[in-house]
Amino acid sequence: MSRNIPLLDLQKEFEMLKPELMPALEEVLSSARFIMGPQLDELNDHIQSLLGVKHHIPCANGTDALLIALKALDIQPGDEVITTPFTFVATAETIAFAGAVPVFTDIRSDTCLMDPNLIEERITEKTKAIIPVHLFGQMVPMEPVMTIAKKYGLKVIEDTAQAIGATQHGCFAGTIGDIGTISYFPSKNLGAYGDAGGIVTNNDSLAETCALIANHGQAHKYEHHLIGLNSRMDSLQAAILNVKIKYLEEWNILRAEKAAWYHKYLDPSVETPVTVPGNTHIYHQYTIKVDQRDALKEYLAGQGIATAVHYPIPLNEQPAIAALKLHGFPTPVAAKTAQRVLSLPMNQYLSEEDIRYVADAVNSFLNTKKSQSFQNSPTGSSV
Ligand SMILES: Cc1ncc(COP(=O)(O)O)c(C=O)c1O
Repeated sequence: MSRNIPLLDLQKEFEMLKPELMPALEEVLSSARFIMGPQLDELNDHIQSLLGVKHHIPCANGTDALLIALKALDIQPGDEVITTPFTFVATAETIAFAGAVPVFTDIRSDTCLMDPNLIEERITEKTKAIIPVHLFGQMVPMEPVMTIAKKYGLKVIEDTAQAIGATQHGCFAGTIGDIGTISYFPSKNLGAYGDAGGIVTNNDSLAETCALIANHGQAHKYEHHLIGLNSRMDSLQAAILNVKIKYLEEWNILRAEKAAWYHKYLDPSVETPVTVPGNTHIYHQYTIKVDQRDALKEYLAGQGIATAVHYPIPLNEQPAIAALKLHGFPTPVAAKTAQRVLSLPMNQYLSEEDIRYVADAVNSFLNTKKSQSFQNSPTGSSV
């Protein structure tokens, strides 16, 4: 019997949280404090205590969080910033938007994360910062990144858009480098009901600068100390996040449970996500790698299973980035990975039966392909 298995289930989540969300939203609406309401301070307290970090600065989205971080760290036009090509466009787009130059290093094929062993060879006298991206819900090994940053006097921005609550040797994602940037985009593990983002840091002066930039550089009403942006988070989004954050830990544990079921039911020939030793993975995505990715995607759609490709084109091959005419360092692992990745349904509401259904469908597709290629091989056809 065919089912309908969504990637995410935000409608179900809303139905479950409705009794808590509606009064929280009503409070904002009836107070009419839509901008800079008390919900923002409450959110700051929640995030600071969850991550054990000194400052959380709310902003309009995760892209602005990156841009504000780059500006606060005084990244100037012509400066080089090393990052991964295997990420959402915002990571490199903001570097270029700040006038700086994104420099791409290749990734590891097992984890899809930036390979810290390849960072040093990309450093020049223009390099000012590194942006490791904690992709799919787990952290880039930070010890080697921080060692290189220290050796060359570089700043580190942890792109934590996909990894809020993930840890490495007990430290939360976003809290190890100079600044961590968070996205509360609706599909994230902690998602608002619209765009929202945040910046975390233990550095008082950076926190102050980020807060200023996010609000027109305004220290007091109509007194502007820095060139900034209108990048405030709405009170309504903060109110939603204040309700949802209480469930984040539980949801992250549930996602890890679903990942363990995938691992149990998927054929051992499937390349399943690999966790870096010392990491807790929060499975923002459960991304497998297969050779016939597009055909598998189509087959699964026919079985009522939603999937997504994160990401089909490495950033250095995107027209907008190619137009920048960068150094053009080859990143063959990222290029190959982009053709093989497929994210399977992952959300806290999937049952063991749902996961088994998805895994069985993946296995049966791959087994059919295996037997077809055997029949077409010289050995197969001679039998
Ligand atoms: C790795 C990464 N960085 C940055 C962003 C940008 O966040 P936002 O969509 O909130 O602007 C995203 C969002 O998908 C992301 O996945």
